[in-house]
Amino acid sequence: MTKRSMRTAIGAGVAGLVLWGSVAQAETYDLVARYVLETVRAFRTAYVLHVVEHTKEVGIAPKEDWVKNAHAIPLPAQFVKTAGSDLDTFEIGIIGLTPIYKSNLPKTEAETEALKSLMADPSKKIVTFSEGKQFKAMAADFAVSQSCADCHNSHPESRWRNFKKGDVMGAIVVRLTRQAN
Ligand code: HEC
Repeated sequence: MTKRSMRTAIGAGVAGLVLWGSVAQAETYDLVARYVLETVRAFRTAYVLHVVEHTKEVGIAPKEDWVKNAHAIPLPAQFVKTAGSDLDTFEIGIIGLTPIYKSNLPKTEAETEALKSLMADPSKKIVTFSEGKQFKAMAADFAVSQSCADCHNSHPESRWRNFKKGDVMGAIVVRLTRQAN
């Protein structure tokens, strides 16, 4: 092997390793993001089925201003947001294209496009993508009961009053920060 072809071979090997490294890294972030989404979804479902549904029988209901009311508990979205605000190393949140509050809008154009694609094809259920230093994943948030749609349609700050049971109302989002390697 000539020196030149050796250098070319080494160069190709290094490039291959770097490429393999970044593919492997993307796969790892994708997996981690999916685990986080599944966990958030499972906790929220457990909260709805085992806390919200259970306390309903004694007249305790989720209300936005639950803090002021001893007979009220947080809304499922508030439950997710409160847990999210306690995280230091990555973000979880809940977003919508027509949210009750503007603070729940997607944070970037890429997030908007991803959420639009989830709404256009709900069978996708989850979309993931890299954006700058972050790796993001979104899971469609379905109106699993009529009460989801009713509350959003009648909220005074609502900008969309036509939700129906089964609609994708928005998404749970995970934003991981990628480590430089
Ligand atoms: C009693 C009223 C009420 C019910 C019931 C309710 N929500 Fe919400 N939801 C809200 C409010 C208020 C917010 C904004 C909370 C905030 O940002 O502090 C919100 C936020 C959201 C968001 C983030 C985007 C936005 O619109 O702000 C999604 C997505 C969402 N809810 C989906 C659901 C789903 C799915 C259900 C049923 C499982 C549901 N909601 C049940 C009142 C409700």
